[in-house]
Amino acid sequence: MANNERSLDTVRVGLIGAGRIAKVHAAAYDRIARGSIVAVTDPVIEAAQAMSKEHGYALAPSFTDLLHDDSIDAVLLATPNFLHADQTIQALEAGKHVFCQKPISLTLEDANRVVAAAAASDRILQFGFMLRFTPPIPQLQQRIERGELGPLIAAQAAVFGWEPSSDWFYDPKNGGGVILDTLVHFGDLVLWLFGPAERVTTEGGAYKLEGAKRFGSPDNAVVTIRHKSGVVSSMYVSWTAGRGNFTLDVFGNDGSATVDLVHSQALNLFIADKGREDAGWQYPDLVWDYGYAGEQQYFVDHILGRVDGARAGTAGQARDALALMLAAQESLDVGHTVELDR
Ligand SMILES: NC(=O)c1ccc[n+]([C@@H]2O[C@H](COP(=O)([O-])OP(=O)(O)OC[C@H]3O[C@@H](n4cnc5c(N)ncnc54)[C@H](O)[C@@H]3O)[C@@H](O)[C@H]2O)c1
Repeated sequence: MANNERSLDTVRVGLIGAGRIAKVHAAAYDRIARGSIVAVTDPVIEAAQAMSKEHGYALAPSFTDLLHDDSIDAVLLATPNFLHADQTIQALEAGKHVFCQKPISLTLEDANRVVAAAAASDRILQFGFMLRFTPPIPQLQQRIERGELGPLIAAQAAVFGWEPSSDWFYDPKNGGGVILDTLVHFGDLVLWLFGPAERVTTEGGAYKLEGAKRFGSPDNAVVTIRHKSGVVSSMYVSWTAGRGNFTLDVFGNDGSATVDLVHSQALNLFIADKGREDAGWQYPDLVWDYGYAGEQQYFVDHILGRVDGARAGTAGQARDALALMLAAQESLDVGHTVELDR
């Protein structure tokens, strides 16, 4: 029986790619209910073998083999950005549910192909926007939606990504650079919070990293967006500032809000010692312990019909976030403001 005809009560996930983010996902799945990673593949066989050994995953020879494995319900694409569109489409066409890391693709044409494939499929497709699941960001989104801050005026954010581990991150054709690869998290977020963008202006450059200088892509940038709602959001993104994590300030006529995942990881937990390994004081990292786990739990629950999928966003919204980041990169390249509705 094909996997898409199987009645599911748990979700069996194949992990595609065994690099840095794959390890984060593997750790997240330790705390996921009703879903587990069961197999891994990577052309760098040592990387796949290491994950297989550490987590007990089956070692799949290739992505294609995994797509033909009827015992696999879903794939988690943790691969370089230039592979996302084709791998997503192939997996949907093979009847798999797909969790794809961001960005959806590196070009609008590819993003439109993914949107069309998602529309033609009855499988679940979710993208790696873990901030939608990281407290207190969804709580802030609800308060903004309820109008608690009044008409909004401005927002500022700072986003600190991991320093690239390989050249593909810098290459416009393979990774897209810091704006497409990393700021896209906040591209998605500001569209979710403040609505469609009207124009975008970017300043930045390759300040430090040799790879960024070689490929002529930025390692630091400031992107300012005017939204159609009138809100102006300004976002600093860096691969070198090294502080880790995210900050966001939102200012409205009736109030303001601050999210600071650099300084205030707000949840302090005490677990009584009843023989548990995790007894005692704990200071969970909101992104690592809730964002990454939350997005996977939501993906599994969406496949099982337990949630409606709205929180995760759509393929069209992932395309809109990419379109905004492409315009931001273009503004840096041409040296002036870029209008979105051209
Ligand atoms: N959400 C986040 O916070 C976050 C953080 C880091 C990276 N990412 C995203 O995750 C993705 C991977 O980034 P990374 O830092 O793990 O990169 P990485 O280079 O560490 O890992 C990528 C892995 O994919 C493997 N790979 C390449 N081609 C493959 C193929 N055809 N099939 C299977 N595996 C293949 C590589 O061998 C490598 O092991 C990127 O899209 C990146 O933007 C997201």
